Amino acid sequence: MRRPTGRERTQRVKSGKGRKTSSAKWLSRHINDPYVHEANKQGLRSRAAFKLMEMDERLKLIKPGMRVVDLGSAPGGWSQVLGHKKAAHVAALDILPMEPLPGVNFIQMDFTDDDAPEKLKAIMGGPADLVLSDLSPNTTGHKRTDHLRMMALVEMAWLFASEVLKPGGAFVAKVFQGGTEGDLLSQIKPRFVTVKHIKPPSSRQESSEVYLVAQNFKG
Ligand SMILES: C[S@@+](CC[C@H](N)C(=O)[O-])C[C@H]1O[C@@H](n2cnc3c(N)ncnc32)[C@H](O)[C@@H]1O
Repeated sequence: MRRPTGRERTQRVKSGKGRKTSSAKWLSRHINDPYVHEANKQGLRSRAAFKLMEMDERLKLIKPGMRVVDLGSAPGGWSQVLGHKKAAHVAALDILPMEPLPGVNFIQMDFTDDDAPEKLKAIMGGPADLVLSDLSPNTTGHKRTDHLRMMALVEMAWLFASEVLKPGGAFVAKVFQGGTEGDLLSQIKPRFVTVKHIKPPSSRQESSEVYLVAQNFKG
């Protein structure tokens, strides 16, 4: 698995023929995105795979034999990275379907359902070394609403992680810029040796996403 070189050629997309300027812009950004090209070339299911690779390169999150939970896993880019890094048990969940991957136990359900945590625990087969959340709700365009929805998912992911993580384990969750809100951060901080926010290079600059990375769970 390699990262793009940045020397890829640019293609122009015309608006018109019923295509709105905004969708032409989206299409242009998509087809000229070196991470999209590289993901396609390497058979990766999403450009998001590079974000996990980059975080792992920097913080050494994934080790062979680990038991990992992948929340918001579809279409499966992060699960592919986990397979490549030889994680032994991966329990993945998404509200959308996901094509099977070797070594990945997937359940399709809404993480906010009351029985989601128990169903996940049942397919994990033991405490986790790493809980990942790339969960992101459909955005409404209304900043405050989107932020609140995102924070609700992060809080649930943290609650789940605090129940299933082994001492020494790690929790990674997508949050919006401005970082994890005060209350939640003050719950998380004392439970880990290190807590930081990072924006991987492949995360689009115009996107307000950053990742909370909490390592060395104190139990
Ligand atoms: C950015 S995508 C994840 C990409 C994935 N990490 C990858 O590498 O392919 C975010 C995912 O969160 C999922 N999601 C959002 N809200 C959810 C919920 N309440 N329950 C389960 N999945 C949810 C979406 O369906 C979407 O697939």
